[in-house]
Amino acid sequence: MFPDVRLRRLRKGKIRNLVRESTLSVDDLVQPIFVDETIDSPVEISSMPGIYKFPLSEVAKEAKAITELGIPAVILFGVPAFKDAEGSSSCGETDIVQEAARMIKAELGDDLVVITDVCMCEYTSHGHCGIIDFETKEILNDPTLEVLGKIAVSHARAGADMVAPSGMMDGMVGTIRAALDLNGFNHVPIMSYAAKYYSSFYGPFRDAAESGCSFGDRSTHQMDPANSNEALREVTLDIAEGADIIMVKPALPYLDIVYRVKTEFGMPTAAYNVSGEYAMIKAAAANGWLDEQKAIYESLISIKRAGADIIITYFAKDAARMLK
Ligand code: PBG
Repeated sequence: MFPDVRLRRLRKGKIRNLVRESTLSVDDLVQPIFVDETIDSPVEISSMPGIYKFPLSEVAKEAKAITELGIPAVILFGVPAFKDAEGSSSCGETDIVQEAARMIKAELGDDLVVITDVCMCEYTSHGHCGIIDFETKEILNDPTLEVLGKIAVSHARAGADMVAPSGMMDGMVGTIRAALDLNGFNHVPIMSYAAKYYSSFYGPFRDAAESGCSFGDRSTHQMDPANSNEALREVTLDIAEGADIIMVKPALPYLDIVYRVKTEFGMPTAAYNVSGEYAMIKAAAANGWLDEQKAIYESLISIKRAGADIIITYFAKDAARMLK
């Protein structure tokens, strides 16, 4: 007890470094990249200052810049020129993400891990994550699974190193695992968006990916923010279906979930520091209300402290520069 114990003794100068419990490394980071079929030069996303959509012709250059910063992985999101009710531009051999993956792998080979987001919402005219029954307005789970399997296989064929299903359909991990294995891709891991919440923090992403819903919302498949035990059930199922990496999304408002998932399962665990989390810091910093660099570091180290091994973040490039 005080005065024998004085915790301030260890908070001086480099003693702080010696007793630091969590570390942030560039190896923890994944940078998202938006590839847009409808543009021919990079376009900044207005609600995400500093983040651009890239045309195919520029995507390998951007991936190279990310690799040169020491970041080990990117996750690709596509904005297609053509959308229909079935999301049919999501799984063709020459569709946007497939082309981007192929070009990046041709340029960088094993120097960069290419992860692809597997969902239908960027490719459907209605913006939903699956096949719709237009009479009931329901998102049909099982018919959607079939498409997700095709998307994942097409990504793997294009050279994706890992696929990341984000649509929160029941059975998506098992279906994708089976489809990959059947097509000779049993070596391609699945990072499952296992506990993905129905969150307002995806707003800026939907501007970027033009993936907002034309009717209804995502509350029939994404998780209720009030729930925590349910996240453990989601993760249990995804592990049983063959997920290699488990993701919690968003990150900062859900650090309790990151902690519980890591503690309970001990699986490689990812947290997605989403577009709204990025936009909040950027907006506050632009107003001079926050120190941007410090807020970025504090956010990312908190996600590590909670138990994440991997952080998907729009700040990856900034953080990599900071860590150099
Ligand atoms: C679905 C997907 C979304 C995000 C990643 N994958 C959007 C959604 O569920 O509406 C959001 C990421 C972010 O906000 O940064 N393809």
